[in-house]
Amino acid sequence: MCKQRVLSGVQPTGNLHLGNYLGAINNWVKIQQNYDNFFCVVDLHAITVPHNPQILAQDTYTIAALYLACGIDLEHATIFVQSHVTAHSQLAWLLNCITPLSWLERMIQFKEKALKQGENVSVGLLDYPVLMAADILLYNADCVPVGEDQKQHLELTRNIATRLNDQFATPESPVVKIPEPLIRTEGARIMSLTDGTRKMSKSDLSDMSRINLLDPPELIIKKIKRCKTDSIRGLEFDNLERPECNNLLKLYGLLSGKTKEEVIFECQGMGWGKFKPLLSETTVEALKPIQMKYKDIMGNKDYLESVLKKGKEKAEAVANQTLERIKLVLGYLVPF
Ligand code: TYM
Repeated sequence: MCKQRVLSGVQPTGNLHLGNYLGAINNWVKIQQNYDNFFCVVDLHAITVPHNPQILAQDTYTIAALYLACGIDLEHATIFVQSHVTAHSQLAWLLNCITPLSWLERMIQFKEKALKQGENVSVGLLDYPVLMAADILLYNADCVPVGEDQKQHLELTRNIATRLNDQFATPESPVVKIPEPLIRTEGARIMSLTDGTRKMSKSDLSDMSRINLLDPPELIIKKIKRCKTDSIRGLEFDNLERPECNNLLKLYGLLSGKTKEEVIFECQGMGWGKFKPLLSETTVEALKPIQMKYKDIMGNKDYLESVLKKGKEKAEAVANQTLERIKLVLGYLVPF
């Protein structure tokens, strides 16, 4: 039987943090055997906010290498760079023309980021979710594993796909597939180390708010030592007045592979002085194999480039077919 298709991606802006890892990539690794997977480095998305051209290519290598270092297996997955497959930008344009502006203006991430940028906010930032819809629909993805912050964008993708099918195809032979979000119950929203009510994010100005996958052990220890806590005795999950405590216990559970019950049993009587070193050690140990593998891969650029070259070819074969199919139903003249 044919496996279902998965597509997902991460932006090459800086390296990845524990939110990206636990909310997305670790989930991809866990489910990869059951699917035919396409994982892209979404470099076109990376320029929707002001970017530095000096580091975009390097960041693109970094993210691709991190996919492999985190355990993405080429037996089950194709890794490629979004801008290498031109169908993404082409389909984004076609979808732009059937997407109502009001749908985009409602996107929470756009509103939040636009607020920060004021007058300088780009059309690209508004259009970002349409490009994301193109990424997904080109591969006829059945499932899209992401963190919770992408839920609204996936809902938009489903709405765009439905609109395209309704306007230009028939229910018996739809032109695109309606994808399902795959959002895990644990880890879908990892919070900042400096404010447990805000998500861990690459765009937070303070690097102390996140643990990056490539942070050296001393820095991880320092960040956890300084992270925000409270002065209540004992540790507990799910107390709304203790968002930091909930987040740190969750991190410990996810990184150690322990269940919530095991974490409660082990940690409920601890103070921060005992828990923080435990969390630091667990985090350092969990990231060590990823960092070692990352170093190996980055030391062998030829290999990494060959992975991305093969990935481009495989991705292009699927994406171009879908693009042609969509252009046909939209009435385009086939090139001679
Ligand atoms: P990006 O690069 O912001 O984030 C990559 C993935 O990490 C997840 N994530 C988190 N999960 C849990 N807790 C957090 N604090 C946290 N922060 C980030 C995100 O949900 C995401 O899964 N638009 C997307 C990239 C994209 C994409 C796509 C994803 C472009 N095209 C097609 C899926 C399918 C983004 O900016 O992710």
